Order: sequence, then structure tokens, then C-alpha cells
Amino acid sequence: MSSDSIADISSKQKMWGGRFSAAPGDLMQAINVSIGFDQRLAQQDIRGSLAHAAMLAAQDIISAQDLADIQKGLEEIKNEIEAETFPFADELEDIHLNIEGRLKDKIGEAAGRLHTGRSRNDQVATDFRLWVRDYLDNFDLQMTELMTALLGKAAANTDTIMPGFTHLQNAQPVTFGHHMLAYLEMFARDRSRLRDARARMNESPLGAAALAGTPYPIDRDMTSKALEFDRPMANSLDAVSARDFALEALSACAICATHLSRLSEEIVIWTSAQFQFVKLSDAFTTGSSIMPQKRNPDAAELIRAKVGRIMGALTSLTIVMKGLPLAYSKDMQEDKEPVFDAFDALSLGLAAMTGMVRDMEPNKERLAESAAAAYSTATDLADWLVMKLNMPFRDAHHVTGTIVALAEGQGKTLDALSLEDMQSVEPKITEDIFSVLSPIASASSRTSYGGTAPSEVKKQVARWRNILST
Ligand code: ARG
Repeated sequence: MSSDSIADISSKQKMWGGRFSAAPGDLMQAINVSIGFDQRLAQQDIRGSLAHAAMLAAQDIISAQDLADIQKGLEEIKNEIEAETFPFADELEDIHLNIEGRLKDKIGEAAGRLHTGRSRNDQVATDFRLWVRDYLDNFDLQMTELMTALLGKAAANTDTIMPGFTHLQNAQPVTFGHHMLAYLEMFARDRSRLRDARARMNESPLGAAALAGTPYPIDRDMTSKALEFDRPMANSLDAVSARDFALEALSACAICATHLSRLSEEIVIWTSAQFQFVKLSDAFTTGSSIMPQKRNPDAAELIRAKVGRIMGALTSLTIVMKGLPLAYSKDMQEDKEPVFDAFDALSLGLAAMTGMVRDMEPNKERLAESAAAAYSTATDLADWLVMKLNMPFRDAHHVTGTIVALAEGQGKTLDALSLEDMQSVEPKITEDIFSVLSPIASASSRTSYGGTAPSEVKKQVARWRNILST
């Protein structure tokens, strides 16, 4: 850490060190210091300080001149941070003391008035909320992009037939567009969960001070408004102690990460030589250093794995918060790194998944061939017996099972079996049976609301186009 422009570190330590005779020992500093990671809160810290200072001046708690000095100093610091020339110092512990120390270098005494009616406890709670809120807004855009990419693939493949699976065994033919829209629905819920978290967390802790409020005539509505919070938090103890906003955001992230991991897993399976359902672009595949033929879906595998660290972050922070008495305890300094790490991981995962989906090419021939395999239209045969011959479904199930066994014995697909063969099992079967036995006929018949028929998928594509364009 450079410390050249820090005039006198030990005098800065006196900001809180008035009753201590010596600087903290090295070990104490090593365990206490957070500037290495909480410098990510710098912009939010400056925003909070500007709002607080303006309010102090409006309430005649500090002078207009002090405010002007503070604003000028903070503006310079903001520029230094953006230009990466700010001299972060471990000795100043955290982002709050680093910025205040730097402000003192720049404007002298007025810097010492900024902290009137405020504590690092409400300051850090405010900074962290602002940071999480900023990131949630970014997630919203990213999620929308991913949803748009999925919608694009769905729209282009409303009648691309593929096998639908249960137990990863061929079950019934579905459309690729339908499969893409299933993920769109999941990510839409994730986006809405993140929006809920944002709405609930958008209250200002600033002005709670250390824990009990302050005797200065502060205006918490004013700072809340300036920082675009909906209202000040109503209980000062809660304001400095609450971290459920971060837990809630992390939970929503963890759920989203599980969805990303499921789609990743499908991509890994689909790109294997055994499946060959889709082709990824070169941009999202890697080669092997030894096997020249390999195209590995590394991005999908890494996204699949990210859920581990995101769940881990949720677990860490839950355990940090568990059993903490009110109000602030230093334990809470451990709240930031898991959130930073998890949010970064999710953001990267969302971006990579969006690119992968956008570039992904379904292999239509291969999907159609696979959809026809393993007697995937057996249910359609049974349904035909029910609908056309008025057979009870359980009997139809039995008859169909016998016909499937017959086809299997002849090494044929169901639609390749002769009418005579089928009639040998159930004499009332007619030529009409062939109208339901192909995978496209099967999928097209599933016109119930939310079903896989191309006609239904087109309706859902239109619905999503409408939602995403507004
Ligand atoms: N760096 C601290 C944190 O992240 C700021 C609050 C410190 N408050 C205190 N009373 N020591 O939690």
C-alpha cells in the first residue's frame, strides 16, 4: 500500500484511537483491516457522505463553507478513485477512514465535521445497501439479456422437434422452442425475485448513527431521498444490524445459479458426441492440449460449478449473522467478501450463458432422429385408443405396451410397424393411427395451455416478446 501522500498516519489513527497509547499491533491490524476489499464501496461511500453533508448544512449543523469544502474534497477523491490514484492505506483500516483521512489531507478541519451525527455503523450499512442495490440493477439488465437470448432461440425453433425427457430417458417429443421457453420462465422468476429483494431493501439506514440515533437535528428523510431510498429505516438498532437484505439477494442469486447450472448441464450433455443436439460457437468452446478432435464446453461446465461458490457465500453470511446480538458487531465486516464474490460469479455466469445461448445452433436432423427413438410416441398411440375407441386409459396402456414389444422385436419404430401387426394386438385399430405416431404429429397435438405444440409455443413467444419489449 502506498502511503506517500498520507501526511501523518498516527494522527489519523487518533480518529478513533484517542484512548489508546500505542498503534494497534501488527496482528490486530492484520485481522482488523478491510480496505483490501471494502474499497469496492468507495463510490457508494462518497455518495453517502455527500448526502449526509448536504443535510448537515441544510439543518445548520455545519456551515455552508464547510459543506462547500467537503463537496470539493470528496469530488477530488472521487476522481482519484476513478483514476486509480487514491492512496489506499492499510493503517486507515477501512474505506470510511481512508476517505475521511484523505479528505482531511485536502480540506483540513472541515473534514472532521463530516462525521457529525453519523457513525461508521450506519455509514457502512448505507454504503453496502447502495452497493447491493446498484448490482441488483445491473443483474436486472443482465437477466433481461439472457431472457431475450432464450426468446430468440425459442422463436427460431417453435417447430424444431426434439426428444423430451423424464429420468433422462426419451419420454415424449417436444419442441426446442418449448424447451428454451422453460428456461425463460425460470429466469423470469429469478429476475422477479431479485426485483422483490431490491424493493424490500430500499430503505435508508443513514442517521441511525452508532445504534441509538443522534441528538443532532438531522433530517433522515432528506438523506434517504437524496440516495434514492424509499424511506428511512424506522428503527436505528435494526438499521445498523440488518443484513437480511444481503442474505435475501444472495438467496435469489443462489436460486438463479441453480437454474444456470441446469441449463449448463443440458448444454454439456447436448454437445457430447453421443447426443450432438447442439453446436456451440468457437467463442464458447475450448480445445484439448492433447486430443485434437476435442471441443469442450468449458464455459458451461464453469457456470455449472459457480453455484457452489454462490451457495457457499449464502451459507457463510448466514452463519456470520446467526446468533449475533444487537446492534453492530465487528463480525459484520465479514459480510462483504462473500457478497462481492457471489455477485461477480453470477454476473459472469449470466454474461457467458447469454453469449452461449445466442450462438448455440440446434442440430435439427439429429434432434428429430432422436425424438423418434425409443418409442417416444407410445403415449400418443394409447391416447388414440382412448379417444377413438373409447378404451379406458389403463387398457389402452396395456395394449400399447404389447404393440411396443412387437415393434421392439422387429427392430422398428412405432410408425414403421404395419397396420396388420397392430391389428393383431387390437383389431379395431385403423389407418388413422399413423396420423399420431410421428414425433411432429405427437408434439403438434399437445395444444393444451402451456403445452409443447408449435401453435402454443408461438403464442408464448408472442407473449414474451410483448413483455420483454416493454
Ligand atoms: N469496516 C467496518 C465494517 O465493515 C465499518 C464499521 C466499523 N464500525 C465499528 N464500530 N468498528 O463493518
